[in-house]
Amino acid sequence: MNKFYLTTAIDYVNGAPHIGHAYEKILTDVIARHFSQRCDNLFFLTGTDEHGIKIQKTASANGISPKELCDNNAQKFKEAWKALDINYNRFIRTTDEDHKAIVQKIFKKLVENGDIYKHSYEGLYCSGCECFLNEKDLTEDGLCPDHLKKPEVVSEENYFFKLTKYKDAIIKHIKENPDFIVPQFRANEVLNQLEDIQDISVSRAKTNVQWGIDVLDDPDQSIYVWIDALSNYITAIGYDTETPSEQFKTLWPADVQVIGKDILKFHSIYWLAILMALDLPLPKHIFAHGWITIDESKMSKSLGNVISPTSVLEAFNLQQPDAFRYYMATSAPCGRDGNYSDDDFKEKVNAHLANSMGNLLNRTLSMLVKYFDGEVKEEFFAAKNDELVAGSLSLLKESLGKIKVVENHFNHFEIAEAAQEIISIVDAANKYVTDNAPWTLAKEGKMTECGQVLTTVLEVMCIISALIYPYCPNIAAEMARQLSFDISKKLDDITADEIKAGKLISKEEIKPVFLRLDSELADKSAKK
Ligand code: MSP
Repeated sequence: MNKFYLTTAIDYVNGAPHIGHAYEKILTDVIARHFSQRCDNLFFLTGTDEHGIKIQKTASANGISPKELCDNNAQKFKEAWKALDINYNRFIRTTDEDHKAIVQKIFKKLVENGDIYKHSYEGLYCSGCECFLNEKDLTEDGLCPDHLKKPEVVSEENYFFKLTKYKDAIIKHIKENPDFIVPQFRANEVLNQLEDIQDISVSRAKTNVQWGIDVLDDPDQSIYVWIDALSNYITAIGYDTETPSEQFKTLWPADVQVIGKDILKFHSIYWLAILMALDLPLPKHIFAHGWITIDESKMSKSLGNVISPTSVLEAFNLQQPDAFRYYMATSAPCGRDGNYSDDDFKEKVNAHLANSMGNLLNRTLSMLVKYFDGEVKEEFFAAKNDELVAGSLSLLKESLGKIKVVENHFNHFEIAEAAQEIISIVDAANKYVTDNAPWTLAKEGKMTECGQVLTTVLEVMCIISALIYPYCPNIAAEMARQLSFDISKKLDDITADEIKAGKLISKEEIKPVFLRLDSELADKSAKK
């Protein structure tokens, strides 16, 4: 794998980030960190979607300019992603000058090629969706089914994009590439939506929408939402209608574009058509994740249950985001909806990260210090007891084999499923310790055997630290430090021979990698 380019949806900035936005960015960051363990040239793009009527209205309701509103809120997104250790390469804002200039050129090219035409139109516009709706999609009371608001009747002369021209090619692409839409069960939804697609409006009259990118040569029209927003995926890496950058040539097409299920239609229909019209290759996968509910209820301002991701870190006195990242990334099987609840969060991370994984490392290193003054002796590697050697080889083989299993899950964007495999190694290693009782071996004076068991577990912990790194980068780095393991190693280079003979650790250097939530220690360390 010589490059990996992945993107998230760009978030609307008419408010602060919530846990749903965070879910997507965490999932994508986990995917990015995993693939950075398999490739040297990875690029991770995220950002904010800043134009449109909704922003214009919110800004005017707050008595500030749209730009001021965008600046304030884009900053909140950046701060939240920093707190969650989202390690993106570029944060694009659709108000960035380089983006705006290329969007104008893209629009111009599409007009010149005959893919965009001007047309008088009357339609029902929902500013919540930032799109025109068909009458048949409304509720019985004539409301937008997602926003439960009456759409405005808009009568304008707009530019239209010839979506219908690409209908057959899109259907063909989806049918011929069953892994293009992830998860596959969503492909049928898209094929159904394709049945009755129409050309789409891609501009709004300046008299109605001022907060947008001007159409070149026709400044009475603003380029409206989707052409502006979707193009971010190519403008961010240097696309140009005349001379695309070297970076663009290397990175495009995207390896995966991560979005929520609600905007799959825009990505698997509109976006494909735009790319086809620009004669550009199509992304390899569109991964549509499910939605996060709060205590099993839809998050909404009216229910007052919108949670900001940083408020969770604060509520639990978390100095690092690892536990929250782990919980969110594993909250739902691939593409399904997930849920956040305080109690479940506490229970899951205490069980997995503190009791099973952290404790295993802590116990093993403490025994190494207690029985061997923290030293891994040469003789631990020399096989003596056949039964013990067989058990340890089998655990090592199973753990190494899981690297490929985890990689395979990631190839299909099965992030929670991959984590389950990692936890299954932790469980197997815990069972191995219980079965072989190194403390009993020590009591019986079987010191080499005792050392052999501990070394096997430490070896497995190296593999676990590498595999858990995408979810919990700080915890993994701390585990690796205590194991003297190089956490930046590529997955392919990991062997069952990472632990070397010699002094590994002293008593003072051992510390819990994750403190149980609500534990006294966690409270004290937070106060420090
Ligand atoms: N601006 C558009 C996307 C343009 S991409 C070229 C948009 N913005 S959004 O702020 O409404 O949503 C951004 C992303 O967050 C979307 O992928 C959306 O699915 C996701 N989520 C918003 N609420 C969510 C949950 N409650 N749960 C999970 N993801 C959610 O759409």
